[in-house]
Amino acid sequence: MKEKKFITTPIYYVNDVPHIGHAYTTIIADCLARLYRLQGYDVFFMTGTDEHGQKIEEAAKSRGYSPKKYADEVSDKFRNLWDEFDISYDAYSRTTSDEHIKTVQKAFEIMYAKGDIYKGEYEGNYCVSCESFFPETQLVDGEFCPDCGKPTRILKEESYFFKLSRYQDKLLKWYESDDNCILPKSKKNEVINFVKSGLKDLSITRTGFDWGIKLPKSLNETKHIMYVWLDALLIYPSTLGLLRDEENMAYWENTIHLVGKDILRFHAIYWPAFLMSLDLSLPKNIAAHGWWTRDGKKMSKSLGNVIDPKEVANTYGLEEFRYFLLREVSFGQDGDFSQRALISRINGDLSDDLGNLLNRIIGMSKKYSNYEIESKNVMKFFSDEMNESKVLIKNALDVIDEMATNRYLEEIWKILNLANFSIAKYEPWNLIKNNQEDKALALVAMVTNLLARATILLSPVMPKTAQKIANALNFNIDEKSYENLVQNGKIIDFKASDCELLFKKIEEPLMSNPVATNIKEEKITNNISIDDFKNIIIKVGEILECENVEGSSKLLKFKVDLGEEKPRQIISGIAKYYNPNDLIGKQICVLVNLKPAKIFGHLSEGMILSAEDGSLTLLSVMNGVKNGAIVG
Ligand code: MSP
Repeated sequence: MKEKKFITTPIYYVNDVPHIGHAYTTIIADCLARLYRLQGYDVFFMTGTDEHGQKIEEAAKSRGYSPKKYADEVSDKFRNLWDEFDISYDAYSRTTSDEHIKTVQKAFEIMYAKGDIYKGEYEGNYCVSCESFFPETQLVDGEFCPDCGKPTRILKEESYFFKLSRYQDKLLKWYESDDNCILPKSKKNEVINFVKSGLKDLSITRTGFDWGIKLPKSLNETKHIMYVWLDALLIYPSTLGLLRDEENMAYWENTIHLVGKDILRFHAIYWPAFLMSLDLSLPKNIAAHGWWTRDGKKMSKSLGNVIDPKEVANTYGLEEFRYFLLREVSFGQDGDFSQRALISRINGDLSDDLGNLLNRIIGMSKKYSNYEIESKNVMKFFSDEMNESKVLIKNALDVIDEMATNRYLEEIWKILNLANFSIAKYEPWNLIKNNQEDKALALVAMVTNLLARATILLSPVMPKTAQKIANALNFNIDEKSYENLVQNGKIIDFKASDCELLFKKIEEPLMSNPVATNIKEEKITNNISIDDFKNIIIKVGEILECENVEGSSKLLKFKVDLGEEKPRQIISGIAKYYNPNDLIGKQICVLVNLKPAKIFGHLSEGMILSAEDGSLTLLSVMNGVKNGAIVG
């Protein structure tokens, strides 16, 4: 029997329409679900909507709707978007369903019977938007929510409490015992520190409004309703029917929760404590990704800076959008959305590296062997390349265990680069000229085998594109081909056929609305002479090393070869815009006669030049030049 896996997204609040942040979480989850299915797992993938709570009640009221009617409408919007995006969910769960309501009441009864719930009184600063209490010390300017910045209000009410404090040690033991229980590891440390600083019991019921699940009848309490986070988190087991019947227990044993970093605390602290109280096993992974920002700011309806995922997908293509989201930022880090970055991924990675490789393979096979690609001599001539591809595949699969989709795609691209590089290195057209036809045909077969492996691995990210490639080369993408080509490194024959262009290059940003350019108007009032300009020395340099500066989310530390005796160290505040690994080997422009300075305790010997228009891009040179070349 197949091993089972349960993959979840957060359930989305229905007070907001879907935006790029929601799409990001859902697309990561979809990609994992598809990959695991390909690997032969029996996957159950759920998403859905979170529909109770004061915030929803107020949003409905302001529109003159009943909460349920309002929830129905917005929940459908999410569901329609996921359908349009071809998200491969198995269940779309809503907290207003009867099954879920029963599960929550049952859970409350179990926890109560266990002595983990007691009645008391709560007074605190409550943020309605985040549905969360915050201690005075955490409030910004004594009043505002530290998470969303909105004003909090003082709530004093009778409440039932969950004995969270009782679980502090057990939680710490769990974090310690399971390396990957919270990903990425940097976030795990934040959670551990939070728990170590002491856990207070958690208020888990509310009074004063109605839109929520009532307490179980056995408690005979009519004015209390469930705290929305207790209600919402229980959607996960309730989707599988747990606490009602246990038929899906095998999925539960292998649960992966994908969440944004904003809700990690609820998932990594409250949730496992509730589960311990319910005697249910704990998730295998709780993986928290970063935020998508726009011009460095969190996206929200009130700021009016929300990016509509549908518009991006309609304009640039859904597959391109999926690739961009999963490739552009390191898992766990924030990323700023920019059309320029998206276009550069489409033109470079997708059109040049992937699309062009397919075209070349089709063209060569047509010319040399009437579209037949025979692999019999691949190992004779190209065993090194085939062995290297095995290492790259292993690396890709290793990093996906930590949900690092960006690194997964980086490894896949190394396979494509190996294929492209091999064509340039061995020049099949010259092999043919020099009567080495066997080797030329083996080369085409080798690169086709590499492309096929990369395509199978890429299929969870870009299912339709992968299928087009598979059709053009006449191979299948399924569990069997995954096992044969990816897992066992089998080398196969192909039969190519002509195929439409996979990706068109894009010259200009295509959307005027989502990314408003933000070019600061610099009035030029101080014209300088050419002699003044001569005082400024700018040189081209190559980035040899680049890493984050510890303790800073903004700074990167570079070692740059400027054609001098030794490389210079430069600190630059561009961490938000670039992933350090992506910069290594790039040529950039550096102001070299700026007085050295210490930034964050590190010596900085120059300034890396960049251009800003709301986003930021580093200045580079059109054609490679020698390091140290003067810019003038
Ligand atoms: N309803 C709760 C979750 C309950 S799960 C038991 C909730 N919903 S939400 O609609 O506010 O958003 C949930 C998730 O959307 C976030 O955790 C994150 O996964 C995603 N994002 C929302 N805004 C985001 C960005 N700007 N960027 C990236 N993802 C963010 O919280």
